[in-house]
Amino acid sequence: MVAPTIIALGGSLLYGDHDVKAWLGQLRQTIVHVEGNGRKIGLVVGGGKPAREGIQLAKDLISDRFRLDEIGIAATRLNATVLQTMLAEIGCNVADVVPATTDDAASLFEQFDIVVMGGTKPGHTTDAVSVAFARDAGSAHVIIATNVSHVYTADPRTNDDAKPLEILTLKELQDITGKEALQPGQSAAVDPIAVNWAIECGLRIGVLDGRDIRRIEDALEGRPFEGTLVQPE
Ligand code: UTP
Repeated sequence: MVAPTIIALGGSLLYGDHDVKAWLGQLRQTIVHVEGNGRKIGLVVGGGKPAREGIQLAKDLISDRFRLDEIGIAATRLNATVLQTMLAEIGCNVADVVPATTDDAASLFEQFDIVVMGGTKPGHTTDAVSVAFARDAGSAHVIIATNVSHVYTADPRTNDDAKPLEILTLKELQDITGKEALQPGQSAAVDPIAVNWAIECGLRIGVLDGRDIRRIEDALEGRPFEGTLVQPE
């Protein structure tokens, strides 16, 4: 069996300023096409707006960061349920549960072509879940689809001199992200925990702007894609 392809879909893709309904339609078409070619896909869906708003609402009342993370996880699972249901509706062979661990998610490929999941445990984001899912499903790479075009040399929101990077190593990415876990609801180009786990299992990562479905398709088909390629060495 060809190893499944794992894609992390940042929650911003479901709640951004772009035409989300049209984007969902295109995503659905892409998945149907890939499934039609006999391939398997794992989708890991981020929390986006409901995660941020839920965590913000609870922040003054709940001090334990792991409890705040659980609120974020609930939002990711909500979003995963939306995508899972949308794919089931059009007859895709998609797993009928949203698995809670990457191990369970990988096992579901024995029966299904498509597995949709959200977060798993406190302490990391769905970027890290996608890396663990790829590892458990025997995939050599993961696609992280987000709402920025590339990994930058520094945070482009706060640094005008930040430059987009087309290719770098996982170690170089770690120099940019640091090693510290993110706070609940905090966002970054790539979660440092995901980078650490990718180093441990020697995984390749593609980071791209998922609002443009063609970029996801290019990466899925193994074509050169607009974005950042992060290699083990
Ligand atoms: P996301 O994975 O959505 O964070 O998790 P993100 O990637 O920064 O945001 P988007 O989706 O691209 O907008 C949201 C929050 O849920 C908790 C964390 O608090 C995280 O910040 N979470 C998520 C976990 O604790 N564990 C998980 O496995 C996933």
